[in-house]
This record gives sequence, C-alpha cells and structure tokens, in this order.
Amino acid sequence: MKILILGSGGREHALAWKISQSDLCEGLFVAPGNGGTAEIAINLSLEVNDKPGILDTVVRLGIDLLVIGPEDPLVNGVVDFLKKESKLKDLLVVGPSAAGALLEGSKDFAKKFMLKYGIPTADAEIFTKADLVAGKQFLAGLTPPYVLKADGLAGGKGVIITKDRQEAEESLEKLLRGQFGPSSENVLIEEFLDGIELSVFVLTDGDSYVILPEAKDYKRIGEGDTGPNTGGMGAVSPVSFADAHFMKKVEDKIVAPTIKGIKSEGFDYHGFVFFGLIKVGEEPMVIEYNVRMGDPETEVVMPRIKSDIVPLLVATARGELSDVSVTFEENAAATVVLVSNGYPGSYETGESIKIASNNDQSIIPFHAGTAQEGHNLLTKGGRVLAITGLGNHLTEALANSYRGVDFVKCKGINYRTDIGFDLAK
Ligand code: AMP
Ligand code: GLY
Repeated sequence: MKILILGSGGREHALAWKISQSDLCEGLFVAPGNGGTAEIAINLSLEVNDKPGILDTVVRLGIDLLVIGPEDPLVNGVVDFLKKESKLKDLLVVGPSAAGALLEGSKDFAKKFMLKYGIPTADAEIFTKADLVAGKQFLAGLTPPYVLKADGLAGGKGVIITKDRQEAEESLEKLLRGQFGPSSENVLIEEFLDGIELSVFVLTDGDSYVILPEAKDYKRIGEGDTGPNTGGMGAVSPVSFADAHFMKKVEDKIVAPTIKGIKSEGFDYHGFVFFGLIKVGEEPMVIEYNVRMGDPETEVVMPRIKSDIVPLLVATARGELSDVSVTFEENAAATVVLVSNGYPGSYETGESIKIASNNDQSIIPFHAGTAQEGHNLLTKGGRVLAITGLGNHLTEALANSYRGVDFVKCKGINYRTDIGFDLAK
C-alpha cells in the first residue's frame, strides 16, 4: 500500500514514524515533510492546500491511502475536492469533509453543535461587527475572567482571556475590526471554565469510533505555565487524573454524543476528532473540537499505540472501524519541544542542528521545523524538534525525554524544563 501524509510538523513525523513500521506500508511519502520525515519517507515538494497538485500526485504515484495532518486543507475542502474525482474513487482518505471540519473551522458552529447534542461546554454568545455595542454591554454583565474567541481559524492565536474589562472591550473591538481577517469578524464571548485541561483523541468512520490514548499538552512558552500561548511546548500521556471513571464520563457524555451528532448531521467524516477538554470539578467539558491530531500530542500518542496503525486508518477510511481491534502500550510517553529563540514571536531560522546518534529505543527525536539541506540539518520553524521519551511510568519517560534533549546541539534553542512535573509523582 502506498501512503501519502500531508503536513510538515512533528505530528506528521510521528504519524510517518508509526505508519513506516507497518508491513502493509510499501511506499511512504510526506508532503512537504521535514528533515525527520526525509529519513523514513520520501518528501514531496507539494503544499498542503495545493488541491490540483495533490490530485496529480495521488494519481502519478498511485497513492492508496491519504492521511491529512493539519486543519487548513480540511477546512478548505481538500477531501471534498478529491472525493468528487472519478479517477480517485478507490483512494482511501483519513480526514473529514469541509462540512465536518467546521467543528474546528467555526467556533460558533461547534458551539451550536454541542448545544444541539447536549454536550457539556461553556455558555457563549456570538457577536458580529454590527454588534460591538451589544458585545460591550454583554461583557459588562459578566464576571471576569472574560473569554473572547475569534470564530474562525487564527493559527492558535484567536483566544483572548483577560480579567480586565477594558482590555476585553478593546480586544473585542480589534477582533471585530478584522484582527484575523474574516476569521475574527464574528466573536464568541464565553463563560470562563476553571479546571485542568486534557486532550482526548478519537478515530471515527462517522459511525463507530476508537478512543486513542489521552494526553496533556503544555501550551504556554514559560516555566510554570506563564507567558504567551504557543502551539505546544510539550506533552505527556497517559494523564494521571483521567482515570477509568473519568474517561467513562468522557466517552458517555462527550465522545458518543459527538459521534452520534456527526452521524445525524450526515457529515462525511472519516478521520480524527481531537477533543480539547477541561475537567471542572469531576466533570469533563469541551473547550474546543479539532478535526485532526494534536501537535505535540501525536508525538506521545503514536508511541503508545501497540497495534499496527495502518489497518486502523484503512478501516477508518472504509467505514469498517467496528471490525478492528486495537491495543495500547501500558507505558508512558513524554515529549519536550525545542523552539527557536523568540518563538512564539519572530525568530531566526537556518541554524545548524546536530543530533548525536544513539541507539536508545526509549528516546525518539521527532522533527518539526527542520529541513535537510545537502548534508546539513537546519532549523526552519518556531517549533524545531519534539524529543519524546518512553518509560514504564511518567517520571522515567520524562527523564528519557530530557536525556534526549541533551543529544541536541543547536544555537539559540529554548525549551521548558518543567514539562509533566505537575503530573509526575
Ligand atoms: P482554544 O483555541 O479554544 O483551545 O483555546 C485556547 C486555550 O484557551 C485553551 O486551551 C484554554 O486554555 C483556554 N480557554 C479557551 N476557552 C476557555 C474557557 N471557556 N474557559 C477557560 N479557558 C479557556
Ligand atoms: N497542541 C494543541 C493543538 O495541536 O492544537
């Protein structure tokens, strides 16, 4: 089976790493990929939103299975575009159609979906450009902190949380005036939920589903969860506070009703659902849906899947998920993300990276923003590497991850030294 993965981050390297271990994988391509995927697959010079280019590539290479990593092409309808091509009728695709991808592409749409299917989430009101005065009045009636969310995709920067009403009003104004272009012409003002967050991942064929190992990511740039939000500075799996009793609630109150909703709405949904959850008291609530895997969460979830992932992806695409069984490792995984100096603000790229070779099976250096240029491995993004460590328990996994960080030599690299410390015993 020939498999193409779209994307270029740590998530895609981790997916490629897991897929490449399958006996069913006879050819693996990543577009555009990174320096790490180049070592285990063939990188293609093809952008994730280039629909005609993707179509040509799939035909030319005889791709059997396409796995779409990031949200952008999904929200832009790449799946709908490919599925209407008669010459691609046998192509297996992991990724939802644009209608289903709106669960991530529009926070207003997702909120209405949750209300319709009785899925616990924060109360919210939507405001448009014309409603600025009404929006400010609404803020005046709330108790802080205030939570404002751009309706559309904003590269992870569209959520503003502040205790200061004046700042909230100013943020509302900036958003509605198009701070993120059309993505912030509508803004959700939401009740603040106080609790601890976790990420739950599901593969679904739009009817059945498989729950994958859960994870917790560390979004803030600074030690002790301080400073601006990033794409994610590290992650751990499993999550100690998500015990069997809690996960049963997650399945019954959130996962099952979501999949039922997806089916009732008639979405062509064959792919991942990433539930961004918060535990409030003992109850899980949904903060957001994503229609893809998380990054860096994939870098701790993939190593914990024991089964061959290819039959699972094929069954997802074919609508045969109820026929497959999947097993998970009993171990723990942790990943620490190495970022370019200045990230999540502006940063330099093109720094040389050296990773000392070692045969330690408990350390997996996943690449994110790297590029192989000739014999040189160079930095190419804000998040550069995600060093995953495995262990019998979280403390050991974290120790291995940080030991792996020491194998990396790169000028101007930063990382958090406290990933997972809140959960490790
Ligand atoms: P999102 O892009 O929706 O995941 O939001 C980014 C982050 O903002 C989340 O991971 C939470 O830490 C925080 N957040 C979003 N919505 C809320 C809320 N209603 N209450 C508390 N924190 C929130
Ligand atoms: N790590 C959070 C995300 O992938 O959205």
